[in-house]
Amino acid sequence: MATTYYATSDVKLHRQHILSVDQFDKETIERFLYRAEDLEKRYSDFERANLLRGKTIACIFFEPSTRTSSSFIAAMQKLGGNVIPITQGVQFSSISKGETLEDTILTLGQYADAIVMRHPETGAAARAAKVSPVPIINAGDGTGEHPSQALLDLFTIRRELGRIDGLEIAMAGDLAYGRTVHSLTKLLLHYDVKLSFVSPKKLAMPEDILRRVVESGKGGKQLSTIGEVSSYVDVLYMTRVQKERFARVTDYEEVRDHCILTPELVARMRPNARILHPLPRVNEIPTEIDSDPRAAYFRQVRNGLYARMALLTMVLGSE
Ligand code: NCD
Repeated sequence: MATTYYATSDVKLHRQHILSVDQFDKETIERFLYRAEDLEKRYSDFERANLLRGKTIACIFFEPSTRTSSSFIAAMQKLGGNVIPITQGVQFSSISKGETLEDTILTLGQYADAIVMRHPETGAAARAAKVSPVPIINAGDGTGEHPSQALLDLFTIRRELGRIDGLEIAMAGDLAYGRTVHSLTKLLLHYDVKLSFVSPKKLAMPEDILRRVVESGKGGKQLSTIGEVSSYVDVLYMTRVQKERFARVTDYEEVRDHCILTPELVARMRPNARILHPLPRVNEIPTEIDSDPRAAYFRQVRNGLYARMALLTMVLGSE
């Protein structure tokens, strides 16, 4: 692999913190999509790239994770780099002794070239970035953002449907607390799309994001049932109601079953539509839907590997 091919000197993300999708302009998104696709073509088999040989990332997760943590680790390994994994529970790190987030980040920054971090507090990634000697990659901060997930979602839409422009996309479920839909909505505003949002009133998309959608003329219709959109959308992006964000379990129970996709609703979807979900799912997509070719969520999981490979090379690749 010629290093010039992945030269990053002209890429805006090189050695930058990745805190929010607001950092991505259209050109950077397109470069990312191209790179993810190219990495998949080259390395989908057993082959290992050496694009990040000698580099190390630390993965520290203060909240549970299956896909995000394991795909960042797998991506780094496939790129020939190394990982310091603190993903099995921070109870085994000095955080449990009372160490501050800042001191933990300052420490990891002595060993790693970048730190992938998930934290329950919105804005925690920005807090870490203030002190970090190396790039922080936000792997989810509370109800804030989840940039790498949104990038892989965008990559999935393009892979599955061959384009992003011209699509009607509905997001359903917990749009208030779900960070993936916050980041994905902002990324989609770079394209010619029509967005609609399905949720109970209490779980509506935050006002500031909704305003951006409406002002850009890209839709922003708010609906309360999936049946109102399922027959015409190209992409139905489902989400889990984020139980851990509710103060009282009764508040959660009140909205838990509001947006459930049924086989009957799927039967009315367009033949070429796609169902996406960042996963984990709870009860919003019954497993009997999994065998429908329109159910793209496990292919989406796989795309997370290439998306994270692309992001890591953009941040850490050699010049
Ligand atoms: C999401 C997250 O952590 O925000 N999961 C993921 O990263 N794939 C979605 C969720 O937890 O519901």
